[in-house]
Amino acid sequence: YSHLIPAADLVVQLSPTLKTKPDVSSFGVDFTDHMLTIEWSSTEGWKAPLIKPFGNLSLHPACSSLHYAIQVFEGLKVYRGDDNKLRLFRPMLNMNRMASSAKKACLPAFDQPEFLECIRRLVEIDQDWVPHSYNASLYIRPTFISTEQSLGVKKPCRALLYVIMCLAGTYFNTNAASLWADPKYIRAWKGGTGDCKMGGNYGCSLFALDEAVDNGCQQVLWLYGDDHQITEAGTMNVFLFWINEDGEEELATPPLDGIILPGVTRQSILDLTRNWGEFKVSERYLTMSQLCSALKQQRVKEMFGSGTACMICPIRHIAYNGQVRNLSNIYKEEI
Ligand code: COI
Repeated sequence: YSHLIPAADLVVQLSPTLKTKPDVSSFGVDFTDHMLTIEWSSTEGWKAPLIKPFGNLSLHPACSSLHYAIQVFEGLKVYRGDDNKLRLFRPMLNMNRMASSAKKACLPAFDQPEFLECIRRLVEIDQDWVPHSYNASLYIRPTFISTEQSLGVKKPCRALLYVIMCLAGTYFNTNAASLWADPKYIRAWKGGTGDCKMGGNYGCSLFALDEAVDNGCQQVLWLYGDDHQITEAGTMNVFLFWINEDGEEELATPPLDGIILPGVTRQSILDLTRNWGEFKVSERYLTMSQLCSALKQQRVKEMFGSGTACMICPIRHIAYNGQVRNLSNIYKEEI
């Protein structure tokens, strides 16, 4: 079959009625008027993309994405500039990551620029939904599911690629997060799918999150290995800005060794700060014992999570080993 998604054959069915756009919105609840769907089958390849009124999907109850989580997704944003122009934030990074996630899920390859062109058309049609604001944006959720109608655990012969869009208000209802770090929970492991954006990775995190919330925290700080390496925080990549063991000012984040999600915001922070050249920027391992001694010796300047949905989220407390480590005193001003 061909990898080509024929963007030139895109069919547009406009919605006869448009929804009222809310003034304020929390994350991921208010969806725009249209959606994009593209069907694939192993016999016919990619069908013509379709933009149609936003609505429910109709799925066979045996659909293998529902049973075996054969599913991947992306998250990217479109912003309105001062000049009123709309800009997608580094969308090719999302296209690339979606293609590699899809490969691991045994979902078919697709033509990335053609898919992006279909997304661009969807954004154009629902452009009035992009907020006129510095700190709000429209969140785009490309989703790729198996629509195989069989309970066999096998590579899908049918799939659906679709895109929905929603207002991206504040993701967390606090300015700074408290994290629950318990090594008994593991988000991802070597040889697994932690570096892919698969729905299952997120669903599986809820049990640990529940315990975090029961203990007065908002997110889980995911640890890995006997040395309790710091890997991710909730659904975010994690950064530590500190004076390292060698006395150097350093911005550090764990390396992409297969268990870390290659975040677009993570990459952008690395690109920007390397460009500034003001301090050392490293992709390196960080352990809880290194963090704890740095906190004791007041070498921690800042710690934060990064992600498309939340952007940057300061970290205020970490509960670990029966003790709450306070990071809030390192912030100069109240956040
Ligand atoms: C994002 O930051 O885009 C995410 O994927 C987090 C999320 C699962 C809402």
